[in-house]
Amino acid sequence: MRRTFSGPAGRLALISGLAAAGWLAPSASGGETHAPLDHGYSAAGPDLIHLAQADAGPVERPVSYSMDQADRGEDRYATDCEECHGDDLRGGLNGGPPLRGLAFEEKYTGDLPASLLFSYMSSEMPPNAPGRYPPTTYADLTAYVLKRNGFQPGAPLPADLDALGYLIMEK
Ligand code: HEC
Repeated sequence: MRRTFSGPAGRLALISGLAAAGWLAPSASGGETHAPLDHGYSAAGPDLIHLAQADAGPVERPVSYSMDQADRGEDRYATDCEECHGDDLRGGLNGGPPLRGLAFEEKYTGDLPASLLFSYMSSEMPPNAPGRYPPTTYADLTAYVLKRNGFQPGAPLPADLDALGYLIMEK
């Protein structure tokens, strides 16, 4: 419902509406003045919340990536990650842990969101320059790690943390 307030009558309606909602009412205690927001929006609140829920676009679904992403990720990995995590992703070089296998899967896969792995990589890796790539490059790297862990290609992996939060690391 959208009301428009135009002209003197409308303004009067607005003012009395606000007064009714508590905006203009003098404080009953006479002491402190209450913040108008407490009252002013209370009537609209539940409606807005319902609207937001009905429109709650993204739902959880299994993660996927495109082969293009995985290919680009593979190149980047070979240049910047392999020296510590190994060309087979089994780690063990320069202190790099494995990026595949049971321990890795327990940490990052199952019903966990893809944002977990993505955010770790984009905030911590590579150790000498964390966060040096754009988000799309971290998505490529994530795609490559997914591929090497046996995940199937499909829709491209988003490079956006919110969207990644809806993608479950399920094979
Ligand atoms: C100089 C060595 C080195 C390089 C280069 C490097 N890493 Fe790492 N990486 C590490 C170390 C060491 C850890 C563990 C850090 C810790 O536990 O605090 C790690 C942890 C990780 C983890 C988390 C693993 C886990 O078990 O939680 C991921 C994912 C990862 N690296 C991805 C990458 C990617 C992708 C690149 C390339 C952009 C990269 N790393 C480059 C050394 C490296």
